[in-house]
Amino acid sequence: MSIQEKLIKWYEVNKRDLPFRDIKDPYKIWVSEIMLQQTTVTAVIPYYKRFIERFPDIETLANATIEEVYKYWEGLGYYRRALHLHKSANLMKDTFPKEYKDILALIGVGPYTASAIMSFAYHKPYIAVDGNALRVLSRLYAIEENIALNKTVKTITDIGNQLVIGYDSAKINQGIMDFANAVCLPVHPHCNECPLQKECTAYLTNKQDVLPINIKK
Ligand code: ADE
Ligand code: SF4
Repeated sequence: MSIQEKLIKWYEVNKRDLPFRDIKDPYKIWVSEIMLQQTTVTAVIPYYKRFIERFPDIETLANATIEEVYKYWEGLGYYRRALHLHKSANLMKDTFPKEYKDILALIGVGPYTASAIMSFAYHKPYIAVDGNALRVLSRLYAIEENIALNKTVKTITDIGNQLVIGYDSAKINQGIMDFANAVCLPVHPHCNECPLQKECTAYLTNKQDVLPINIKK
């Protein structure tokens, strides 16, 4: 079995049941990913549910007042995110962009979020490189470069984009997120119960506790 097949199999057995998963609507995925940028999954869930119930689509959000949108954001912090959603909804009219470059052009959306939307909503071959992916991939491939450097993020993005070709990237990306939070932990990863042990270069060379290298400038 390939790394991808093992990861997908692990995910199918162990996946977290989250309200913004297994949905196709790019609008809803966008809202959830913006919320998740600076907030934990647990904290986001109730906000996401209330927000989507009140603003179920682009048009409803665009037609709401910014005051009301802020009200639904109250307690989440980083209020600029609510403003970005409202502004973008007004620019979009009624269709969510489908191309990576157009999604990346939305205010408040960076490469991670644009890739996550391309993958979760459209199942396109984009790796979503967040801290989880940086950790898991740097260990699997024993990348000994500083992940705080853009150059290293680019290297890992290239590896990840190759990894998802021919597979459902949504399962791989969300699999990496859950795997990183349950098995390949930041400190003391559970290598003994890891299904990727035989494929993990860090483990095979006993570097699982020193990777990733993260030296902030
Ligand atoms: N963080 C950002 N997006 C996520 C998702 N879809 N599942 C779990 N954690 C996430
Ligand atoms: Fe992570 Fe350890 Fe599994 Fe490698 S063997 S992927 S370091 S948990």
